[in-house]
Amino acid sequence: MTDWHALHQDHFNGQRVLVTGGAGFIGSHLCEALITLGAQVTAFDDLSGGDTANFDSFKDQAGDRLQFVKGTILDSDALAGVTEGRRYVFHQAALASVPRSVAEPRLFNQVNVDGTLNVLEAARAAKAERVVFASSSSAYGDSEVLPKVETMPPQPKSPYAANKLAGEHLMRAWASSYGLDTAALRYFNIFGTRQNANSAYAAVIAAFAKVLIGNEAPLIYGDGLQSRDFTFVHNAVHANLLAARSEKPIGGQEINIACGERVTVNELAELMAQMMGKPHLVASHRPDRTGDVKHSLADLTRAREVLGYQPIVDFRTGLEPTLAWYQAVLGEAPAATG
Ligand SMILES: NC(=O)c1ccc[n+]([C@@H]2O[C@H](COP(=O)([O-])OP(=O)(O)OC[C@H]3O[C@@H](n4cnc5c(N)ncnc54)[C@H](O)[C@@H]3O)[C@@H](O)[C@H]2O)c1
Repeated sequence: MTDWHALHQDHFNGQRVLVTGGAGFIGSHLCEALITLGAQVTAFDDLSGGDTANFDSFKDQAGDRLQFVKGTILDSDALAGVTEGRRYVFHQAALASVPRSVAEPRLFNQVNVDGTLNVLEAARAAKAERVVFASSSSAYGDSEVLPKVETMPPQPKSPYAANKLAGEHLMRAWASSYGLDTAALRYFNIFGTRQNANSAYAAVIAAFAKVLIGNEAPLIYGDGLQSRDFTFVHNAVHANLLAARSEKPIGGQEINIACGERVTVNELAELMAQMMGKPHLVASHRPDRTGDVKHSLADLTRAREVLGYQPIVDFRTGLEPTLAWYQAVLGEAPAATG
């Protein structure tokens, strides 16, 4: 659905790149776009959350230009091996659940902070041109002010948010201390095909798709008036590619990546039930979860100014193939492409 060549021409053709967390949801989409653009891609992942099945729809096209290496970002030697000779490092690997980070803060700090430091050190030793880091809108916390602008003071409310903020600071510090250029992309609620619906910590669109396919009503934590800037995954991929090929140094800046549209969780549940032909499945409500933020909407000025970014797929357009994919993998509808 996205013409990567029209957006990025020949920039990545023949380039050697590393995608940590490459077997995950966002990482695999990034690998796919890079393969389409002619890059030589190494996907490094410990498969704690990802799955090599996420390569299935493009592995034939990739041939030997896609190399998968199973390993952890806690292993500096393994990281050094996969980073050597790579021009760009897209650092997507992380433990990514807010509620799980509340339950397991030490493990999250190790993977998300120490692991990020290891990635930076490997990139520095390999003389990579740039590290692009997957950060998160959770850094903003619960400030009532909307939209969220990167100059606002961060207010992490969960260990996960604190980890991502620490990662951002490492990006800035490595850019200024070592001249390794970096960028921190603050993703806002990314959704799309391949996002895991089977985890207890599944993201909201994945979780709603799963229950609706099972003919149950979605369950909403809180009053459902909480809102999110739901962002189709190709927008995040596009931002990573723009950041990598930026002609000017980015210097570790934090940059919001989103759609710039705000949708409440109640609206989402209703729209999804309608789109899946089950409008009678009306959501029910449970108490709020610790660490969840009330509203989230991105200001995209910096993304536009620094990266030339603007969303390439809007919320509703992205929701259609996403729901078709969940139908195909969890339901009984004919297979969709992903
Ligand atoms: N999905 C979102 O809405 C969202 C929002 C903000 C930020 N992010 C960030 O984007 C990145 C990708 O998230 P995702 O949604 O694709 O989740 P995901 O869980 O599908 O991807 C993360 C990948 O990292 C891998 N991984 C975890 N620990 C690892 C380790 N120690 N070593 C190597 N690999 C490891 C997992 O196996 C998985 O494949 C993460 O850094 C996440 O924090 C995601």
